[in-house]
Amino acid sequence: MLRPRVFICRPIAREALDLIAHATETEVWPEALPPSRDTLLEKCREVDGLLTLLTDRVDAALIHASSRLRVISNMAVGYDNIDVPEATKRGIVVGITPGVLTETSADFAFALLIAAARRVVEADRYTRQGSWKTWGPMVLLGQDVHHATLGIIGLGRIGTEMAKRARGFDMRVLYHNRQRRPDLERQTGAEYVELRELLSRSDFVSVHVPLSAETRHLMGAAEFSAMKPTSVLVNTSRGPVVDQKALYEALKERKIFAAAIDVTETEPIPGDDPLLTLDNVIIAPHIASASVPTRRKMAIMAAQNLLAGLRGEVPPNCVNPDALNR
Ligand code: DGY
Repeated sequence: MLRPRVFICRPIAREALDLIAHATETEVWPEALPPSRDTLLEKCREVDGLLTLLTDRVDAALIHASSRLRVISNMAVGYDNIDVPEATKRGIVVGITPGVLTETSADFAFALLIAAARRVVEADRYTRQGSWKTWGPMVLLGQDVHHATLGIIGLGRIGTEMAKRARGFDMRVLYHNRQRRPDLERQTGAEYVELRELLSRSDFVSVHVPLSAETRHLMGAAEFSAMKPTSVLVNTSRGPVVDQKALYEALKERKIFAAAIDVTETEPIPGDDPLLTLDNVIIAPHIASASVPTRRKMAIMAAQNLLAGLRGEVPPNCVNPDALNR
């Protein structure tokens, strides 16, 4: 019997590759950088399954070109790189990797929060460049995290874990979400407020919403103006949720104290982006889920989604089960 063919857009954990290779004719893109658009188009025409990363754009044109494709398995919880409605129309199931990265991502968001408040990255630069001459009463003063107010925009899985971490620092937690979540309010002690109130009352604002037409540039000039001059923005969601030009202005004009972001509007951030000239911003290269155990779990989950889709089943973590009714 002919085995299904799959294309995997980057080398991933060995166990996951073994699972896939056991059941399919597997091709792995061997490079550290993603396959080009042309390569992806060419591969898509030949395969039944595709294992993608958030760097691989699977839009309508690509889906139309892929006459055999039955499953797209994205090794990420976010799936704004995939045109899901188009995949559904074509009967292609789309799998993602929720749950396994929640705590690891929240750990990193909290690490960014503390690092920006206490100027950890700047302090390291200061030491390395030989500026440390003595103990100074006014040197590298930051903001306190303990007993401060954390505003969480998007109380989903990762937002909820942020709220739990904040309790360990005796923080007050506010949240804003499309839907109020009384269950999570009881579990975490978070208080629901409107966005404007969250912005004006919070010492730290941490963004945890998926990217969509509604959330694009959710944080812009007006939102930064509503924040306290001592406040810190943390973004580990998707870059376009924050208007990066407005963020630059807000940081430069000291409308907010600092920002720490794991995601940028264009990734990687272009070398001439003005944000890179500022000291009061930490920019990480989209690594919130990057721990050894978590990336292994994500790869295995992506493999399981892919294989289920190839068997004609709804993948265990599928965003469009309706695709199979087409
Ligand atoms: C995701 O999964 O969507 C993250 O951005 C990367 O782990």
